[in-house]
Amino acid sequence: MKIAVIGLGFVGLTLSSVLASRGIITIGIDLDTKKCSKIAEGIPTFFEPNLKKILEKALKKKLIITNKMSSISNCDFIFVTVGTPQKKNGEIDLSMIKVVTKDIGKLVSKNKKKPTILIKSTVIPGTMKNVILPILERNSKKKAGKDFGLISNPEFLQEGRAIQDTIKPHVVVLGGYRTKFMKKTEKFFSEFHPSVPIIITNHQTAEMIKYANNSFLATKISFINQIARICEGIPDTNIDDVANTIGLDPRIGNLFLNAGAGYGGSCLPKDIKAIINLSSKMGVDPILLTAVEKMNKQQINNIIVLIKQNIGEIRGKKLTILGVAFKPNTDDIRDSVGIELVSRLLKLGAKITMHDPKALENARKIFRDNAKYVKSVPSALKDCQCAIIMTQWKDYERINNKTIKHMAKKIIIDSRRILYNKNLDAKYFAIGLGQKEWKFLWQAVLVLSEVIL
Ligand SMILES: NC(=O)c1ccc[n+]([C@@H]2O[C@H](COP(=O)([O-])OP(=O)(O)OC[C@H]3O[C@@H](n4cnc5c(N)ncnc54)[C@H](O)[C@@H]3O)[C@@H](O)[C@H]2O)c1
Repeated sequence: MKIAVIGLGFVGLTLSSVLASRGIITIGIDLDTKKCSKIAEGIPTFFEPNLKKILEKALKKKLIITNKMSSISNCDFIFVTVGTPQKKNGEIDLSMIKVVTKDIGKLVSKNKKKPTILIKSTVIPGTMKNVILPILERNSKKKAGKDFGLISNPEFLQEGRAIQDTIKPHVVVLGGYRTKFMKKTEKFFSEFHPSVPIIITNHQTAEMIKYANNSFLATKISFINQIARICEGIPDTNIDDVANTIGLDPRIGNLFLNAGAGYGGSCLPKDIKAIINLSSKMGVDPILLTAVEKMNKQQINNIIVLIKQNIGEIRGKKLTILGVAFKPNTDDIRDSVGIELVSRLLKLGAKITMHDPKALENARKIFRDNAKYVKSVPSALKDCQCAIIMTQWKDYERINNKTIKHMAKKIIIDSRRILYNKNLDAKYFAIGLGQKEWKFLWQAVLVLSEVIL
């Protein structure tokens, strides 16, 4: 068995490392030669828990890293894991996947072996049938289903737990025709992931499953953020108690109900935009998903309003952002809400200091000399007039009165309620908690209504 993985980003590097560490000859291919050299030395190009260990094991065993597409010859399976970002108008950008499938097609034309090509990249429904299949058949001059297999195999891993999700996903989805290639693929996955459900369906449904999955997750996040906003207006309500309790209802489930500054990352924002774009083009008004997006944007606006309410004019003020990675346990800042907040505050004239246990170097690539990057939390907070916690890193749970001692003004906005029970000597605001200021207002309303009645 020989497997190629094309595109050594978050999905591809994790997959190729896991495959090779399990003893399968794996060729990891990326056009970025610098990336290839680093990976070949055992250095992952991003932070992911346990990846370095498993990559080193893979390199010692069966992992070969190259930038040469020709290495796919004689492979049984060819996984495509290149990026599918969004264009400015929200539409999916298929340029990378088109280039790769064209190259694969040309190489398959010379190949004696009949490989199965699996598309792991997220692609909008209809892409396999209308874009990828014709490119492959045109360039290989061969027939899918007869001379090579073509299977949609959407990926569901979560960054921060990519290795465990790759070893044991919650599901394997295989889209395509029920050919001998599908049988071989089903056998491979049932051996590779024993006891994981395998769903076999057609291409379009497999593609749609991925978008439905991410749309639902984004909806859950915007839903709980909406409820959190309402909680903020009701004295003493606590969104975590609400979320934890509704999460006990098996019809709801407890995941993705953590109110915060909004969803970010490399998948949810772009996938929601892509499905909204597709739906609109089809003439189906995506009212719910548009609301999900709108709610998401509002979260960051609300944080900026809160900052202004507390410090007044933002221009010239020293603000500290704690956490710029889009979630904990990753250094990925793609579409991170923390990064968006920094950009907006810089435009408003703030002086920004950032802290993040893993993502500082990535942030530096964006903001360069326009912000400060500090490795310790107390130093990041020194002299600042307001601190905003954006990412739920464990490090921030340790913040206490000593850590905040040297803040110029002790104002903390906590998007994740990490410091809720700490009794800090600070003015403290958290997303989803009824604020005391509101309490007075609320009491005034009640007193007034009693008088009137
Ligand atoms: N990151 C995630 O958490 C995640 C989860 C599920 C699905 N996905 C989907 O998986 C796909 C990959 O995502 P990612 O985050 O790993 O992307 P990424 O941008 O991190 O990695 C893509 C890699 O492909 C390489 N590449 C681009 N063109 C190439 C070519 N012609 N030949 C060889 N290599 C090429 C790039 O250099 C890059 O290293 C996307 O469609 C994404 O939506 C991602």
